[in-house]
Amino acid sequence: MNDILPEQVRRWHQLEADFRLHAELYGYAEVRTPLLEHTSLFSRQMGETTDVVEKEMYSFERHGEQLTVRPEGTASAARAYVEHSVHAKEPITRWYYLGPMFRGERPAKGRYRQFYQAGCEVLGDAGPVCDAEMLDLIAGFLRRIGVPDFTIHVNSLGSAGTRGRYRDKLLEYFTPLRDRLSEDSQRRFERNPLRILDSKDPRDQEAAKGAPSILDLLDDDDLAHWKGFLHALDVLGLPYVVDPGLVRGLDYYTRTLFEVKAVGSDLGAQSTLLGGGRYDTMIESLGGPKVPAIGFAMGLERLLTVIPEPPPRRGPGCFIAPIGAAAADRALLLARELRSFGVRVELDGRGVKLKPMLRRADALGARLCIILGDGEIERGVVTVKDLVGHAQDEIPFEGAARVLADRVSEPSPDISHARGLR
Ligand code: HAM
Repeated sequence: MNDILPEQVRRWHQLEADFRLHAELYGYAEVRTPLLEHTSLFSRQMGETTDVVEKEMYSFERHGEQLTVRPEGTASAARAYVEHSVHAKEPITRWYYLGPMFRGERPAKGRYRQFYQAGCEVLGDAGPVCDAEMLDLIAGFLRRIGVPDFTIHVNSLGSAGTRGRYRDKLLEYFTPLRDRLSEDSQRRFERNPLRILDSKDPRDQEAAKGAPSILDLLDDDDLAHWKGFLHALDVLGLPYVVDPGLVRGLDYYTRTLFEVKAVGSDLGAQSTLLGGGRYDTMIESLGGPKVPAIGFAMGLERLLTVIPEPPPRRGPGCFIAPIGAAAADRALLLARELRSFGVRVELDGRGVKLKPMLRRADALGARLCIILGDGEIERGVVTVKDLVGHAQDEIPFEGAARVLADRVSEPSPDISHARGLR
């Protein structure tokens, strides 16, 4: 779990603001659900035999209830959708969310126990165009934030019937190889052979090399959906890789599945920036009506690893350096007045000599340094040192805030030192 210090939080704010803006362009509105849910919500929806449910959830009992700190956002959003009968209010719902998720995984670069996801969910639209448009949103967002290169991987798991037939085929295929599989895969073999395809264990990966492709088993409706999806991706000019081995680590998926991977990053095994897919049966299994759904979530830490650093934060518009007790009182009021004009102000209240205060003003990259000592008070002025243009003058204390606010909003004489602009 990471502490995120202010220098980094700026990047987070920017990324979150970009995401909100982009998602809203596509008609999504934010939903906020609790960090805690009943454990059964996740175990039933994500699947008892998934890694997340078997080994990674932070679960505990309180007041006789089994609770889990959310490992993802989809099941919570679906629960809220059913609980508030949202289907009765609108035929199509587009929600996005941003926030921390918790999984007790083995930590590595790009893999944390508290990590942040931004995700989108569409409920009420079964059509393949919706799936392609979601990838359009994603690709546009990744370009907007400056992800240098990425690949889109797609697959279809078919509907529930297709999945069942695929499961049988996989059992048949893996049975003679069973002894060569990892312990986890041997244990979950009968209950969930699809997990073997998703395993990171080299023994499982080797065994899965010749596994049958689910794309060969799709029924007519699944196939029409799959083709419609690929057609819409082609219309949008989005390049993609068809990856029949892509099954993803959660059990709720049906039909369309996708992942986006960073190319050329140093994230190693964690280069998957985001993943998602359809979950057309979840709403019904939560006691709601038959409502199809699709969504995705991306890991914000991973995105921040691959996007460029922003320029350094600009310094305050005004740095106020008071010398002596009387000056300190005036400085307090001047600082407040300047801020009321929208100027960012740093008031040095340490009561130190001028030199260390000037040093600090410089270090902060302030535009103007306002010096207030006994001499200034006697003359009814403040001394204004322009730290960018290197000029110095005096202005009357009366009305100084307005004059300083105007100066700060003027373009800097030297743009390369523009850090001090308001
Ligand atoms: P997921 O593949 O488990 O899917 O997670 C989505 C993304 O969250 C991953 O691609 C990765 O970027 C990030 N992520 C996951 N675990 C970690 C971790 N331990 N540390 C850092 N980042 C991580 C879901 O969560 C689904 N709810 C996505 C979805 C939404 N499907 C339909 N709707």
